[in-house]
Amino acid sequence: MGYIQILDHPLIQHKISLLRDKNTGTKEFKELVSEIAMLMCYEATRNLPLKEIEVETPISVAKTNVISGRKLAFVPILRAGLGMVEGVMELVPAAKVGHIGIYRDPVTHKAVEYYCKLPSDIEERDVIVVDPMLATGTSAIDAIHTIKRHGVTQIKFMCIIAAPEGIKALQEAHPDIAIYCGVCDERLNDQLYIVPGLGDAGDRIFGTK
Ligand code: URA
Repeated sequence: MGYIQILDHPLIQHKISLLRDKNTGTKEFKELVSEIAMLMCYEATRNLPLKEIEVETPISVAKTNVISGRKLAFVPILRAGLGMVEGVMELVPAAKVGHIGIYRDPVTHKAVEYYCKLPSDIEERDVIVVDPMLATGTSAIDAIHTIKRHGVTQIKFMCIIAAPEGIKALQEAHPDIAIYCGVCDERLNDQLYIVPGLGDAGDRIFGTK
């Protein structure tokens, strides 16, 4: 089965608690999503390869490490994933950003991709897909299929809150990807919201409700 890591760092957990609170307003919610994304990205990039270089300091020459290997791209799933982009780009400013828009058909409940714009050199990059909520998993599964079709072989998925149903579905569809998650909640309700969750992440980030 695929790799999953729950990012139980106290700062992440504390900020998720603030995020869940229904009294947290749009401005603070948006800032929190961005901060949590940055902290999660710090953990999700822990295994990036390094190479040693020499740098002249004012005193002498230091043998020191820099990130080597393939470049990164972040792919937010629209629209809530957009809320995580600022935070991750602060950590990895050289990364490129692709966008995938998916909605769930209200009748069939199937994922429908309505937008896809990925960096032209995406196949040369490692990709981290970001979406704050992993509910049924259909959007994440579909987005990752699309990214794989573009030739990407190294993909990670980062979410703030997941439902067990979404984790199971994503691991079954893509056992090769690593999932980084802030917390795994109880379940989905009849409307496919995560319980207890935080409500509709997109609406809370963009103030649309
Ligand atoms: N998407 C959300 O924004 N919230 C949920 O609870 C599930 C999916």
